[in-house]
Amino acid sequence: MLNSQLPAHLQYIQKLNCSIEGNLSNSCAQSCTFGDLCQLSGIHLDNIELSYTSVQGSVELRRHIVQFHQELNHHKTLINENNVLTFCGAQEALASVYQAILEPNDEVVVVTPNYPSLTQMADQLGCLIKAVNVSSENHWQVSIDDFKSRVNDNTKLIVINSPHNPTGSIIDSALADEILTLAKQFDCYLIADDVSQASNYHHLPLSHSFLDYNKGIVISVMSKSFGLSGIRIGWAITKNKDLLAKLLAIKSFSSICCSALDEAAAILAFENKDEIINNNNLIIKSNIKLFQAFVAKHSDQFNWQPPKAGVLAVVEVTNTRDIKGWVENVTYNTGVLILPATLFGLSGNYFRLGLGQNNFEALLTKLSDYLEKV
Ligand SMILES: Cc1ncc(COP(=O)(O)O)c(C=O)c1O
Repeated sequence: MLNSQLPAHLQYIQKLNCSIEGNLSNSCAQSCTFGDLCQLSGIHLDNIELSYTSVQGSVELRRHIVQFHQELNHHKTLINENNVLTFCGAQEALASVYQAILEPNDEVVVVTPNYPSLTQMADQLGCLIKAVNVSSENHWQVSIDDFKSRVNDNTKLIVINSPHNPTGSIIDSALADEILTLAKQFDCYLIADDVSQASNYHHLPLSHSFLDYNKGIVISVMSKSFGLSGIRIGWAITKNKDLLAKLLAIKSFSSICCSALDEAAAILAFENKDEIINNNNLIIKSNIKLFQAFVAKHSDQFNWQPPKAGVLAVVEVTNTRDIKGWVENVTYNTGVLILPATLFGLSGNYFRLGLGQNNFEALLTKLSDYLEKV
C-alpha cells in the first residue's frame, strides 16, 4: 500500500516557516497563462462540455501524445492511442504503474539521487531498493556496468529518468539500448520517466526504443518540458495490454478521469508544442549562461557541471559543511527557495538548481546580494 507519508521535498517545504518569493530549485520550464495558450491557437475554449471525460483520456489528446513520443523516439512498434492512458500528472501515472506491477520483496533498480517518489513509493510497497548511484567524479553519468551489477533474476523493475532530476545527466541512445537489452534478459519492467526529454537544447541523441518492449513503459507530462504544471495531464504509454487494463482499473479508483478543461488545454499545448518547447529551451540555455557567469564570479564558493539536457542541475557549495543550514539561511533571508540535494538522495553539500524560469536572473541577483552581505 502507498501510505500517507509526504515525499521528502514536500515535507521540507511544509516545515519552512517563512514566505517564499521564488523557487530557484523549480523542476519545471517556464509556464504561460491560459490566455497565452488560447492566443497561440487563435481560439477560445468557450464550448467545452464540463462533464466527465473518458477514463482513458480523450482520443484526440492521446493521438497528440503518440505523435509527440514518435517524434522523440525510434521504436518500430506501431503505437496508437490505445497504448496511451492519461492521468492527473506524471505522479499519478507513476503511482499507478508501481501499484500495478510491484509486490512486497520485489527488487527495484532505480538511479539515485532521484525524484523522491521513484524510491519512496517502491519502499512503501515493501520492495527492496537497489540504487544505481551517480557521482560528480563520473559527471553524474550512469554506465551499463552500474546496472549489470544490480539487475538479477529477482529484479521486477528498472526505473530511469533522462534527462535526470536532479543532476541534468542523460542516458543516450546507445546506453538506452544496452539497458533495454538487460531488461529483456532478466524479463523485468522498465520505466522511462521521460518528463524532460523534450528539453533537449543541445540536440543530443536522447531517443530510445523502449516502446518496442512489452514491459517498457514511458511516462511523461505537461509540467516539465512544456512548463505547464497547471494543466494536470500526464500519461503512461506501453504496448502491454494487460498492464494497460490494470492501469485503467487503478485510475478508475483514483481520479476516474482527467478534467475536461485540462484535456482541452493540453490539446492546445500540443498543437503549439514546437513554439512552446523551443521558447522554453531558449530560456534554459540563457539561464545556464547566467549561472556560468555567477559561478565564475563566486568560484570560491560554488562548483557545478552544467546540465546536458533538462531543466535541472546540482550545484556544490564548497564553503559549507552544512548544506541544510546554508539553504535555510538563504531562504529565510531572501525568500528564495533552494532545495538541498539531500532531499533527492544525494549526500554532500549540493543543492538542486532549476534553470527553467524567467525570474531566474532576479532570484540569482537576490542570492548574489545576500552572499555579499554575509
Ligand atoms: C522526474 C520526475 N518525474 C515525475 C514527476 C511528476 O510530475 P508531475 O508533478 O507533473 O506529476 C516529477 C515532478 O517533479 C519529476 O521531476
